[in-house]
Amino acid sequence: MERPKPVGPITVPGGRGVAGRIFSQIQASIDETKEEAGALIPVLQRAQGLVGYLPQPILRSIARDMRVSLSEIYGIASFYSFFTMVPRGKYVISMCMGTACYVRGGERILNTVQKELGIDPGQTTHDGLFSLEMVRCLGCCGLSPVVAIEDNIYRRVTPTKMQEILGTYA
Ligand code: FES
Repeated sequence: MERPKPVGPITVPGGRGVAGRIFSQIQASIDETKEEAGALIPVLQRAQGLVGYLPQPILRSIARDMRVSLSEIYGIASFYSFFTMVPRGKYVISMCMGTACYVRGGERILNTVQKELGIDPGQTTHDGLFSLEMVRCLGCCGLSPVVAIEDNIYRRVTPTKMQEILGTYA
């Protein structure tokens, strides 16, 4: 999946410039899907794809335009792990915590990342470089433990190897 480009602060729904274009595209997505059951999820996905996360003004705008409560939107955005309401770092580290990775040392790899970057899952480093998230399975269990950073998949990772990998992004 192509990483969304950073767009800066989102301010005025329907405003001009980049923010205005984003709101227009979200509105188009709402218009396309509003008759469908479960339309909220694809609209939120589209919004997150455009902005990189789901900021408050966007959520309020979607709630108003789709005639749903803000609490319902928050409920969905919080329930699904692929939604985020905080900006993500330049590189998203996806730590596999599926069974195969976990039993083959995934927790040690997670600890290494936490220690090296000083963040916990769901957080972003202060410099905005890395975000850390946990996933269930990256689909290459035979080569566990596995870590993904953006589109790069790292297999049979060890704590030392993880440190080296992080160093290549710094
Ligand atoms: S459990 Fe980690 S890749 Fe499947």
